Amino acid sequence: MTNVDGGANGSRFALRIGATQSYAGGVRQQITVPAGVYRLSAFARTTGSLSAAQVTITDAGGASRTLDIPASSGWTRRELTEIPVSAGTATITIRAASGNGYLFVDDLGLVRTSGDTPPGQRYEAETAPAVCQGTIDANWAGFSGSGFCNGTNAAGAYAQFTVNPSAAGTASLGIRYANGAGSARAANLIVNGSAVATVSFEPTGAWTTWATKTMTVPLTTGGNTIRVDPTTTAGLPNIDHLDLGPTAG
Ligand code: GCU
Ligand code: CA
Repeated sequence: MTNVDGGANGSRFALRIGATQSYAGGVRQQITVPAGVYRLSAFARTTGSLSAAQVTITDAGGASRTLDIPASSGWTRRELTEIPVSAGTATITIRAASGNGYLFVDDLGLVRTSGDTPPGQRYEAETAPAVCQGTIDANWAGFSGSGFCNGTNAAGAYAQFTVNPSAAGTASLGIRYANGAGSARAANLIVNGSAVATVSFEPTGAWTTWATKTMTVPLTTGGNTIRVDPTTTAGLPNIDHLDLGPTAG
């Protein structure tokens, strides 16, 4: 690591990293952060034949996300958004891939874009007591936790969550999904056994592109089941998680 060159704005220093073995070395910084959803960004450029680089954030719970930095000779801003980070010490690691050249990094930023998701209010589709009528898969990147529910392509092949709101009342919830198919997939939203809404999961363009459907549902205290029940033979989109917002009276 050497500060030998100007930064992205031409006036300051940048961090320079070289690599002879792919992702073998790098620099690491630890930071204590509150829980939330974050954006990781950096200006980067590469020289010589350095093939690529990565900036990885690993949160206190061990969950990590990686910002890929392709080779580029000019300063380019790279960012990764919608990163869920749990409270505590997060580690950011910058590493260069193999090749004969350098990675320059400047203006590394970690910004909390939403504090809406308090710890414990995210329910992963792959974590019991959630039920997935299909398989828990991990083959399409971008999901949170360790996987997502790939429901069987059939009517009635549901994904179900059990949530515990802090109070009874109306709560907003967000269901994160990916629909790489060409048309929307329809489902009933069934709360504690009663259908309360219909949901249309529009195509997201790719199975690796995730979007969130937000709706408002009535909840009681204690455990509430929230079932997403597909109404056509196409079944559900891939379901990642459910975020429960605060309850209003
Ligand atoms: C593909 C894709 C699955 C998805 C399925 C579907 O097979 O790999 O992740 O669940 O399509 O259409 O539901
Ligand atoms: Ca499926």
